[in-house]
Amino acid sequence: MTDRQRPGWFITLEGGEGAGKTTAIQQLTEYLNTRGLDVVVTREPGGIPIAEQIRHIILDPSHTTMDARTEALLYAAARRQHLVEKVIPALEKGAVVLCDRFVDSSLAYQGHARGLGMEAVWEINRFAIHDTMPDVTFWLDIEPEIGLGRIAANHTREFNRLDQEQLAFHQAVREGYVQLAELHEERIVRIDANQSSECIMSQMFDILYERTQDFMVRTCK
Ligand code: TYD
Repeated sequence: MTDRQRPGWFITLEGGEGAGKTTAIQQLTEYLNTRGLDVVVTREPGGIPIAEQIRHIILDPSHTTMDARTEALLYAAARRQHLVEKVIPALEKGAVVLCDRFVDSSLAYQGHARGLGMEAVWEINRFAIHDTMPDVTFWLDIEPEIGLGRIAANHTREFNRLDQEQLAFHQAVREGYVQLAELHEERIVRIDANQSSECIMSQMFDILYERTQDFMVRTCK
């Protein structure tokens, strides 16, 4: 599914709420920058103006009547625009793209937790993605009780519509990720997010080093 013909490297981070993706992305960026790599940090839904506007619609807490299929289609639409405007051009220039969430989020949240079915959600996303898949996906796995506790304690984080979901929804999201990690074990790397930040980062660095060695040798300035 990945296209190793492209010059860049596409890395995505996944996980339930409060898994620590933001901190991990900051530290990964430093790690890659110090190796002289050109790093593009971005997020889904969002990352470019059109997709940020779609994000606003999807996550607005007042949009309580949003239909599950509408939600899935909006995430896929934001993904498409973000890919063509930002991710693919960066990969073509040889950058490392670090993206906070990608298609696995739709499969776990809309496909599994919302009950639309992973296959149905994959179909619309296949249309949106058109073969651009990550080289490596880090799944920061956290028990939902712990993750939700962390975000409740973080008063600077914006409150969004999906935060209104009950614990059972977040548990279903985690089950979705479990299934995805089993299905795509060559791409998705599970990291226990209930460890110290040092342990989490050293595991991620080791994996990146192992998987991207040729790439780094080729591109490091
Ligand atoms: P965000 O505030 O970015 O959450 P987080 O910090 O946990 O990434 O909000 C994104 C929300 O959208 C989050 O609850 C996960 C959800 N989401 C989906 O349900 N499907 C998707 O395809 C994506 C990209 C995100």
